[in-house]
Amino acid sequence: MSATSPHDYPSLDKTHSSGQLSTIDDCVSWAAARLDQADVFWGHGCNNARDEAIWATLHVTDLMDQEYPEIASTPISEQDYSTVRDLIETRIRTQQPLAYLIREAWFAGYKFYIDERAIVPRSHLGDFIQDGLEPWTDLSSLQRALDLCCGSGCIAVALALTYPKLIVDASDLDASALEVAKINIDRFQVEDQVQVMQSDLFQNVPVRKYDLIASNPPYIPSEELDELPEEYLHEPNLAFAGGEDGLKFVRQILIQAADYLSDKGHLLIELGNNADALESAYPDFPFLWLTSRSEESVVVLLSKEELQRYKFQ
Ligand SMILES: C[S@@+](CC[C@H](N)C(=O)[O-])C[C@H]1O[C@@H](n2cnc3c(N)ncnc32)[C@H](O)[C@@H]1O
Repeated sequence: MSATSPHDYPSLDKTHSSGQLSTIDDCVSWAAARLDQADVFWGHGCNNARDEAIWATLHVTDLMDQEYPEIASTPISEQDYSTVRDLIETRIRTQQPLAYLIREAWFAGYKFYIDERAIVPRSHLGDFIQDGLEPWTDLSSLQRALDLCCGSGCIAVALALTYPKLIVDASDLDASALEVAKINIDRFQVEDQVQVMQSDLFQNVPVRKYDLIASNPPYIPSEELDELPEEYLHEPNLAFAGGEDGLKFVRQILIQAADYLSDKGHLLIELGNNADALESAYPDFPFLWLTSRSEESVVVLLSKEELQRYKFQ
């Protein structure tokens, strides 16, 4: 038996020695132990084995709408236990993100459709959609937003669902990603609020006055692209490559955004681990770094007035 055989982990027997049926918690414990021992990368919706084990188990048992601890002792059928086992083994063998295997990603509290045509939703911008951006701006009072580099459309759709008065344009260069965005727009029935457009950054974006431009553009520096974990290789490469210092798209957005913002409008942009690169590219600009729920400061907020005054290049 190999060191990584599933049989090295807690028993998959469908009954305890006591004769009781296996529970959701038995299945979660098995899956978590199996994932913990495996060479997989977290970061596509979960950051640890137990959370991913819970996600897989509740997905298979169709109990995602339940609070996990409260259903831990619920019996699980043999069929579901076996399906979870197969799912976890496929996750480990192929190193695909779980989200792709189950065609499901959770973002800003909503369950999105996802497949390999678009990056798995995980942007920190989801936290600010849920928590708002006060005192800088009141998202519920805004009329028009742009999700630039929208991928699966998760930011645009979550904005529309959370702020029902908001009209959102969602643009991306990648036609395949936009097909996924359209699936999500249909799924949540926000066709009246969200419109997709294919555009190389601002090229085909109408010069409307947006109250908010939200963007999670590609921002991985060139030299880090070769070191990305296997899970990232299943995602579209176009989603990552951010040029030599990771700021290729960020720079262009900083230069152009003011032309597309209303007078009181804001740009909200995520840029990963490129804080030092950004601060040294524009040493005179006092960037406002926002802290997400995971205590990371990878998002900046700028007003139109600041963008105009500084004249980014
Ligand atoms: C990091 S992903 C973010 C996707 C989505 N907003 C999210 O948070 O899940 C970056 C997106 O930028 C898109 N992209 C890459 N180059 C682009 C360009 N020149 N113009 C517009 N979008 C581009 C990619 O196709 C990808 O969907």
